[in-house]
Amino acid sequence: MSTMTGKVALVTGAARGIGQAIAKKLALEGCDVALCDLKAEWLAETVGLIEAAGRKVKCFEADVSNAAAVETVVDGVMKEFGRVDILINNAGITKDTLMIRMSEQDWDAVISVNLKGTFLFTKAVARPMMKQRTGTIVNVASIIGLIGNAGQCNYAASKAGVIALTKSAARELASRNVRVNAVAPGFIQTKMTEALPEEVRKKMMDAIPMGRFGQPEDVANVVLFLAGETSSYMTGQVLTVCGGMVMQ
Ligand SMILES: NC(=O)c1ccc[n+]([C@@H]2O[C@H](COP(=O)([O-])OP(=O)(O)OC[C@H]3O[C@@H](n4cnc5c(N)ncnc54)[C@H](O)[C@@H]3O)[C@@H](O)[C@H]2O)c1
Repeated sequence: MSTMTGKVALVTGAARGIGQAIAKKLALEGCDVALCDLKAEWLAETVGLIEAAGRKVKCFEADVSNAAAVETVVDGVMKEFGRVDILINNAGITKDTLMIRMSEQDWDAVISVNLKGTFLFTKAVARPMMKQRTGTIVNVASIIGLIGNAGQCNYAASKAGVIALTKSAARELASRNVRVNAVAPGFIQTKMTEALPEEVRKKMMDAIPMGRFGQPEDVANVVLFLAGETSSYMTGQVLTVCGGMVMQ
């Protein structure tokens, strides 16, 4: 039996892409899973994957940047499952354009969802996890938060913020046996990257030593490691999953 059997996991942005792959893997390891996304009906496919793994699943509709909505989700998880062992802060958006053309709205939107959303959910689960004296939080950052990227100053700043938040929360929660870590994916094939123009994709590919784009499962495997007992002596760490694109 896996050490994850019966644990309760909460995954944001779980309707598709990396979030869906993470939710599926957690269920296959034996977790019951609470799913959150902007619209509950978008979660139908992920629900099917969790049920196929024979685990309990419950959907929550919320915008991660809305404090009241986030509180309602965590209260709902506690009511439905009685505890929360694992939080995966995965929901994220991009609104790319060069800095000199970027609107205040596009800056605020990306910071709100990617950074504030991660703060709100981390804060909301911190109390029950501290009470339980156990919990793991994994934040989905990005290599762009480490190296920056032309056309993504809002996204890069949000993900650098997620990394700093990860380290600060890790320091605050470590004594209560609550660990906080991050993954920093490189170029992963999802709807988010599908829209990129061919020349950008080609440039990216040239910068990847392993010569291939990543799959959502590549990220999910590392998230699983950070969420589970095999990483029990790790907190405040950032693991890159990028085919060698960034070497720290
Ligand atoms: N795809 C990549 O190459 C890549 C690389 C590095 C990091 N990431 C990060 O991985 C995470 C997942 O990305 P993806 O590629 O699977 O993207 P995606 O666009 O396929 O999925 C994102 C999910 O988040 C949900 N979401 C968006 N805004 C939300 C909000 N305000 N509240 C609740 N849910 C919301 C969307 O509905 C969607 O289901 C993001 O944080 C992204 O920044 C992706």
